[in-house]
Amino acid sequence: MKVDIYKSNKKYDIIYTDPPWKQGKGGKKKVRPNSSGGELDYPTMSLQDIKELHKNVFDNLTRDNHNVFMWTIDKYLIETEQFMKELGYTMHARIVWHKVTGMAPAFTVRYTNEYLLWFYKKGKILMLDDDVRGKYSTLITEKVERHSQKPKAAYLMLEDMFKKSTKLELFARSYRDGWDCWGNEV
Ligand SMILES: C[S@@+](CC[C@H](N)C(=O)[O-])C[C@H]1O[C@@H](n2cnc3c(N)ncnc32)[C@H](O)[C@@H]1O
Repeated sequence: MKVDIYKSNKKYDIIYTDPPWKQGKGGKKKVRPNSSGGELDYPTMSLQDIKELHKNVFDNLTRDNHNVFMWTIDKYLIETEQFMKELGYTMHARIVWHKVTGMAPAFTVRYTNEYLLWFYKKGKILMLDDDVRGKYSTLITEKVERHSQKPKAAYLMLEDMFKKSTKLELFARSYRDGWDCWGNEV
């Protein structure tokens, strides 16, 4: 179900978010300087706006014990961890997605990883279901599909870890059973 994060008063156990960081599409532009590559096909947000949007969600739409799973990229790894700390969160794990790709052009190396950071508030971590403790590791290996699309394995892992928890996806691009969602493309 789609929710309006500015009006809803529902409370969630899991916030899963994939912010629209400002970035290029990859090394294409440098390899082929005259190509139009490099632009994202959706609007992006400044770091400050991303921080404020999440603060509003965390303050108003979370249960006391909750976890935040936030996607980020190398370019913003430090900033993401910093602003989450400023919002009162501790990082529990950096889950790395190894994005399996073909041989794409790159100026130096191909960036083939993204991070799914797990945050919680001190003393308020929501523990995963007993039957899956230790089942998942900090590495997800999955093929890249559409640009910016995150691996299905991430949903499957969270659904398995927190079977009965209420879940909200921010910046979603598709509906998924068992999740509420919000975003301008869903
Ligand atoms: C990184 S993509 C999300 C990709 C998605 N997680 C997936 O796996 O397909 C970020 C999304 O945020 C959306 N977005 C950008 N600015 C927004 C805003 N101000 N309000 C709502 N959504 C926004 C973009 O249009 C895009 O759909």
